[in-house]
Amino acid sequence: MNVSVAALPAHQVEAEGLIVGVPEGTTTPAGALAALDAATGGVIAEVLGSATFAGKDGQVEVVYPLRGAKAKRLALVGLGKDALTPETWRQAVAAGMDALRGKVRTVALLLPDGLDAATTPTVEGAVLAGYKFEAYHTKKDDDDRRFTGLTVVGGDEAAAQRAAQLAAAVCWVRDLSNMPGNVLPVPELLTRACAFVEEAGITVKVIDGDDVLKQGFGLLEAVGRGSQYLPAFLIAEYRGAGDDAPWTALVGKGITFDTGGVCIKPRAGMEEMKTDMHGVATVLGALRVIAERKLPLNVVALCPMAENMPDGDAYKPGDIFKAYNGLTVEVLDTDAEGRLILADALAYAVKHYQPKAMVDVATLTGSIIMALGYEATGLFSNNDELSRALLASGTETGERLWRMPTWDVYAENIRSDIADVRHIGKAKGDAITAAMFLKRFVGDTPWAHLDIAGPSWLAEAKTYHAKGSTGVGVRLLVDWLERN
Ligand code: BES
Ligand code: MN
Ligand code: ZN
Repeated sequence: MNVSVAALPAHQVEAEGLIVGVPEGTTTPAGALAALDAATGGVIAEVLGSATFAGKDGQVEVVYPLRGAKAKRLALVGLGKDALTPETWRQAVAAGMDALRGKVRTVALLLPDGLDAATTPTVEGAVLAGYKFEAYHTKKDDDDRRFTGLTVVGGDEAAAQRAAQLAAAVCWVRDLSNMPGNVLPVPELLTRACAFVEEAGITVKVIDGDDVLKQGFGLLEAVGRGSQYLPAFLIAEYRGAGDDAPWTALVGKGITFDTGGVCIKPRAGMEEMKTDMHGVATVLGALRVIAERKLPLNVVALCPMAENMPDGDAYKPGDIFKAYNGLTVEVLDTDAEGRLILADALAYAVKHYQPKAMVDVATLTGSIIMALGYEATGLFSNNDELSRALLASGTETGERLWRMPTWDVYAENIRSDIADVRHIGKAKGDAITAAMFLKRFVGDTPWAHLDIAGPSWLAEAKTYHAKGSTGVGVRLLVDWLERN
């Protein structure tokens, strides 16, 4: 979508549709709305005076044909009566776009009153709401339902372009996690990932083939051995600060498809496991934005990639493997593969980068969906300050986090009789067990684990998300890195 700003009165902006927000209980148009109302023959005042539109949260009224403006359609979107937040505004923008979808292809948005720096959430909401995964329709008969242009009336040009870049990175993450497993096996994920970050001047290093085992990634190798595609480990470095400045490490789960392996998953819903590399896509998406913004930080993204398949050579329950940090791990369920590949990556990050902070992102457990549903990411951390910072970014970006415990009492659950550690527990609460397992690989490094299994995927479209992958986590990480 082409994003621009215009310094014109709304009625003079070249766009087929206009979207404006209206706080609940507004009876007469004020501010920019008043000017638009005057130009369009009082049509806004008329709608506000009607019994059918009260400006309630999520309520939308479309005026057509609009006279006196270049746009032929006007969507009035209710903003409710609470103070406007970036997130409520993003959602309002999406509601306006939903109402105009298929009717117009270019929209102009009026910035709402009472929201600082409103250009950013305006562009984010609009670009994200305009997203559609459409790589595989051979007939593009949906063309008229796609938005091509967005103009922010009175917006800040620099902020608009930054937000557009950020939203484009989120859409890249969505595209990759929506792609089926056959299209995006490890080598293809690797190629696309490298190309995407290299475009922003990020340097990459790949450990693959025999080197995975030779260099000590015993868990990653184990998970990937049932697949015809060998596992790989991608290291992407962005050096925006000096050589002496400490690193921040981002680690993502990159399972290109998760069948469960020998402990195979039930058929129902298995196709969703094409999104099990969302974590890798998320951290690379964030890294690219950080590089595009030239932030004065050193950030490294560590991306273990594998396909979890059953096969004659696949790993089995009861197998024991040596992790990158030397710990021996007893595997009891081959479907708990994510924590294994992350463990090697976390240990690698600690050893080679001594990061001042480390965050991993993973579609890790069904258990976190039982706990938090689809509305929040599970946050697990050994550090209160890091947790607070991430929680604040969650609120700012609308990507909600909820902190879960990592008390030592839970560690009992992963004690193994025949190895240093087992990777699943005997008790309930697997999302916590998984985090306790990861914690064994981070040492004293301030670390947070984000289990995005819930919010990364939607069975139905919601607010500014289409059905399928949401691209969750990119905006969160960028916000956090930018402020810290
Ligand atoms: N990728 C899944 C977790 C998942 C489930 C993500 C549903 C998104 C939606 C993970 O690898 C997995 O299979 N976890 C198992 C662990 C269990 C075997 C201990 C799970 O949650 O069932
Ligand atoms: Mn699994
Ligand atoms: Zn998985």
